[in-house]
Amino acid sequence: MTAAKQATQETVLPHGGELIQRELQGEQREFFLEQKASFKELKLDAWSLSDLELIAIGGFSPLNGFMGEGDYTRVVEEMRLSDGTIWSIPITLPVSEEQAYQYEIGSTVALMGEDNVFYGVLELQEKYTSDKEKEAKLVYGTTDPAHPGVKKLYERGNVNLAGPIYLINRPNHDDFREFYLDPRETRERFAELGWKTVVGFQTRNPVHRAHEYIQKCALESVDGLLLNPLVGETKSDDIPADVRMESYQVILENYYPKNRTELVIYPAAMRYAGPREAILHAIVRKNYGCTHFIVGRDHAGVGDYYGTYEAQELITQYESEIGIHIFKFEHAFYCTKCENMATEKTCPHDKASHVHLSGTKVREKLRNGEELPKEFSRPEVAAVLIKGLQQK
Ligand code: ADX
Repeated sequence: MTAAKQATQETVLPHGGELIQRELQGEQREFFLEQKASFKELKLDAWSLSDLELIAIGGFSPLNGFMGEGDYTRVVEEMRLSDGTIWSIPITLPVSEEQAYQYEIGSTVALMGEDNVFYGVLELQEKYTSDKEKEAKLVYGTTDPAHPGVKKLYERGNVNLAGPIYLINRPNHDDFREFYLDPRETRERFAELGWKTVVGFQTRNPVHRAHEYIQKCALESVDGLLLNPLVGETKSDDIPADVRMESYQVILENYYPKNRTELVIYPAAMRYAGPREAILHAIVRKNYGCTHFIVGRDHAGVGDYYGTYEAQELITQYESEIGIHIFKFEHAFYCTKCENMATEKTCPHDKASHVHLSGTKVREKLRNGEELPKEFSRPEVAAVLIKGLQQK
């Protein structure tokens, strides 16, 4: 029996076995709202706010809070939580040393947004100094401050506050309300749709022809596709999430079977940590109920920091332990001789017949209002992107 047949939606347990739910309702929530004036406040940046949300809704199961030193060190060094569970990226709450002095171990900290909304609480159990250089080297594979994830790491404080969290108010996703489902809800949705096997697709870009090709290759073997674009913080030259969301709707409407695709936002921040982030992405999609996950070329990569297939190589070593089947795809392109999308595995023609466009080149063309070749992008998608970017 193939892995595709073995992994059914009913059997995909969340990572660590239980879907974590840390969102408070009713009396418990009221209690914290009443007590709030007695808590010291901490202002979260956009990254930490999305991490708080993902912990609370179970996307980051089995985490129930921001990592303590034991988990942090083992994740950085060995890609495991202190109990041995695979986990690839530290989920921490960094503050400056001066800030850290203000918060006492054992106290409850009110987690506020930049918009002054009371989003949640942290039961502060630990404060510890992070080793940023080690973290950069081992997690991002580089200490180069020009790497967007490393830059962010270096900009943030040195001291991590740690402990379990509760969510009081969910961040506002009003722009994408109809595409917001939490992991419990996606699991229910897949069951309603009768999907036994579901492939998750991570993206921070508009869906271009190569994405469509690999998604549809996967869709030939599974019941449904969860198009799960990341809409949290990305680097400034990535295409903004609202423009992308419009482009996803257009491509799904025109080119995908309606009863076999679901568009749901992934409210996380992008780390650009390549291979390590591919593992995090797969774990999260397992938590959302996916049985399969796509890792193509240079997954979650940026610049030339990672090899084209490094993410695939790393995740392959942990695939069975993570418990999600990975669909690996080679670099896909349009071949003018095949008149089709293809990869080196399926196309006999030389490179001169292959249409490639780099992300940078595409963004440049879009910003200048230039058409994208139809071999690269569906025209309906290009039209949405040109209009969206020109309005910005
Ligand atoms: S990512 O940072 O979110 O991974 P992107 O949105 O470009 O970036 O990619 C989404 C997924 O599609 C990733 O799994 C990536 O490896 C894959 N992918 C992107 N472009 C190609 C391509 N030309 N051929 C094969 N896979 C691709």
